[in-house]
Amino acid sequence: MNPPEHVTICEVGPRDGFQIEPEWIPTELKVEVIDRLSEAGVPRIEAASFVHPKVVPQMRDAETVMARIRRRPGTVYAALVPNDKGAVRAVDAGIDRIHTVVSASESHNIANVNMTVAESLEKLRAVMQVAARARVPVGCAVSTSFGCPFEGVVPAARVEQVVGALVDMGACAVALADTTGMANPRQVGAVLARLVPRFPGVEWTLHTHDTRALAIPNILAAMEHGVTHFDSSIGGLGGCPFAPGASGNVCSEDLVHALHAMGIATGIDLDRLITVAGRVEEIVGRTLPGQIMKAGKWDRRYPVPDAVAARLAGTPG
Ligand code: COA
Ligand code: ZN
Repeated sequence: MNPPEHVTICEVGPRDGFQIEPEWIPTELKVEVIDRLSEAGVPRIEAASFVHPKVVPQMRDAETVMARIRRRPGTVYAALVPNDKGAVRAVDAGIDRIHTVVSASESHNIANVNMTVAESLEKLRAVMQVAARARVPVGCAVSTSFGCPFEGVVPAARVEQVVGALVDMGACAVALADTTGMANPRQVGAVLARLVPRFPGVEWTLHTHDTRALAIPNILAAMEHGVTHFDSSIGGLGGCPFAPGASGNVCSEDLVHALHAMGIATGIDLDRLITVAGRVEEIVGRTLPGQIMKAGKWDRRYPVPDAVAARLAGTPG
């Protein structure tokens, strides 16, 4: 292994996570979670999405969320937008960074944003213009980069084509998204081995879902190819409402724990992050998939049983 010294986490729970929650999460609770995440030192937070309020009702308060959060210097507040209308809303709401979305597979793109991939790319060109005028940086996510729940295999050549179109219109940051957790580490390695040298200068992010328990292995594989940006969600919240079988993102505190255990810095206070995960469980009213908040950190110690203590002390127990 040749691990990086530092990794940048983008917390996507307030967007990728909350968007799929069936019960309305009051605006003040969304704001509380975002503020607690920034207080834990999270460097990037995808705080909302500016999408059609009827399509994703949970995100209909995006403007109010953005207006009410306490902006911590050092945290970049991003939002997902699918089109120029969303970009204008995001800029007006004072977002620091725009994340766009288009899928590598045609059927998922139509299911998600009611556009063909070509139509989406046209809209994203308009998004880039809105962002450039407002001097807001853009990161472009490519959904279903490692497989589509409708089409199955998505050829790496197809992903390359979509990434190429985004780079041609000026994208400097690209997130490859494993929307329904279909990727495996060997495939992640192969896709990155192909794309990274072809698009020099691009900042790559891996956006994972832990549907099949391969998210952290996939992240390790991506780090071997120099990727140092990862999306994750607090407690392991998450899923795409328009991708059957999508489950939570890689869990933020589990990922941060794994990175810190390996000596890789994130700038995040893990203990505080674990506390936020507990609070998010209370808010959504169910147990979340995160494992570290249940197991404790790797160096957790338990009391030595009496019989063991007796033997250690040299007396029969
Ligand atoms: N925010 C709010 N309203 C929007 C909007 C946006 N970003 N984009 C379009 N609209 C409005 C239009 O103004 C129009 O309103 P009107 O009927 O009052 O004139 C209406 O929506 C229809 O516009 P149209 O461009 O035809 O959109 P659509 O109905 O085809 O929906 C999307 C396209 C992209 C807006 C919609 O599919 C969407 O919001 N998808 C997001 C999916 C998502 O968040 N997935 C999870 C994340 S990966
Ligand atoms: Zn996702």
